[in-house]
Amino acid sequence: GKPIRLGDFARMAAKGEKIASLTCYDSSFAALLDRSGVELFLVGDSMGNVLQGHGSTLPVTLEQVEYHTASVLRGTRRAMVMADLPFGSYQESREQAFRSAARLMAAGAHMVKIEGGAWLAETVRFLVERGIPVCAHIGLTPQSVNTLGGYRVQGARPEGAARLEADAKALEEAGAALCVIEMVPAALGAAITAACPRMPTIGIGAGPDCAGQILVLHDMIGVYPGRTARFTKDFLAGAGSIDAAIAAYVAAVKEGRFPAPEHCY
Ligand code: KIV
Ligand code: NA
Repeated sequence: GKPIRLGDFARMAAKGEKIASLTCYDSSFAALLDRSGVELFLVGDSMGNVLQGHGSTLPVTLEQVEYHTASVLRGTRRAMVMADLPFGSYQESREQAFRSAARLMAAGAHMVKIEGGAWLAETVRFLVERGIPVCAHIGLTPQSVNTLGGYRVQGARPEGAARLEADAKALEEAGAALCVIEMVPAALGAAITAACPRMPTIGIGAGPDCAGQILVLHDMIGVYPGRTARFTKDFLAGAGSIDAAIAAYVAAVKEGRFPAPEHCY
């Protein structure tokens, strides 16, 4: 098929067609995922966990994300590729964020992702005005694990939920094209999705009503040796091949069968 463009996600969301997304770190998997109809790849800083064996995403560097982004691009024909701005590469100022994001775009990324709420709205606007599409990331933001006090559900209480919804609206208003929502109650994922029609939501542990779903590739094929969250599912178990596992994931997302209640909060 034709390469996916930025506007396709809003069109899909408006039609209720679910967006299938996975993390991807190399060209071989990129080719496989691309053939299987995954529309959005994330060169995630989860590479710190699943490729490098760290206990968090904090040690990942901009150089590492650039390297993996360039590798993924060589295997990609149709999907849109977004790359994570790693810890320390954008929080200081919007100028720092632009410099870092420009390097990922030069490595081939089509979009960058940044973790944070309303405080980042000015940065999002700064990047978008200068030609860099941005995916926001709210809820559980792993780069902030040390201030969040662990990998735990966010927005479970009314004040927290209201703050996350306000964050989402500020980011949409600032021009974010997409928003990853991680580890929040399913009802909050649905509420934010409904409140932000111009910023399709990509959920991970955020319930079935987000505009799309994402998982970490290694969790989706059951090869990560560490502890995995409730929201993950091993699609290789029972599928027989990696190709079939990816196809099963895409089908389950498209048909609204993933996430099931047991993957939700
Ligand atoms: O780095 C990553 O894999 C992510 C996803 C969990 C959304 O940010
Ligand atoms: Na990430």
